[in-house]
Amino acid sequence: MRIASAADIQGIAHVHVDSWKSTYKGIISNEYLASLDTEKRAESWEKILNNGKSITYVAESETGEIVGFASGGQEQTGDPIYMGEVYAIYILESHQRKGLGKKLIKPVIAELINRKFPNLVIWALEENGCRSFYESLGGKIVNKKPILISGSSLIEVAYGWDNIQEAL
Ligand SMILES: CC(C)(COP(=O)(O)OP(=O)(O)OC[C@H]1O[C@@H](n2cnc3c(N)ncnc32)[C@H](O)[C@@H]1OP(=O)(O)O)[C@@H](O)C(=O)NCCC(=O)NCCS
Repeated sequence: MRIASAADIQGIAHVHVDSWKSTYKGIISNEYLASLDTEKRAESWEKILNNGKSITYVAESETGEIVGFASGGQEQTGDPIYMGEVYAIYILESHQRKGLGKKLIKPVIAELINRKFPNLVIWALEENGCRSFYESLGGKIVNKKPILISGSSLIEVAYGWDNIQEAL
């Protein structure tokens, strides 16, 4: 696991689009998933990496291909309780359930601790089976909200850790 650099933008965008398609098939409309574009994602990731606020780590395969990423930083909605947030963690389907997720999220959480965030929140779609990943890290559901993605009404759930150290 290492900190993402500008050279990783294409690789991150590829993982982002590919894992959205495999993760949200049957949850988010096929139309929307088919419209996801690696080049547009790469533009967004360029901005994210350049703004210097987010913490982004990548996981590489043995051949140096980016197979996963995780990012986090200050909580984005001004939540009165939770200060630190993991914004996203995505691993290519072919590389899931091999322990990479835990290895990838830990340096992001460690950096959030380093930046003095006392607690942590992570939002996930209620229908996403991967929520168990956050439960395996000790997260508890602390909030729920509706979200509209491409005309589909979905529910997002928030996993919270009151003491961020417990997520490590
Ligand atoms: C969720 C994700 C990041 C987890 O990473 P991972 O490398 O697959 O997970 P790990 O191997 O580190 O798993 C650690 C533990 O989490 C739990 N877990 C992870 N994924 C799970 C799943 N799909 N279903 C049930 N439990 C899961 C298990 O307890 C697992 O331990 P085990 O494999 O010994 O049973 C990864 O599967 C992924 O990218 N999924 C698709 C994208 C996604 O849903 N991202 C989160 C959006 S909110």
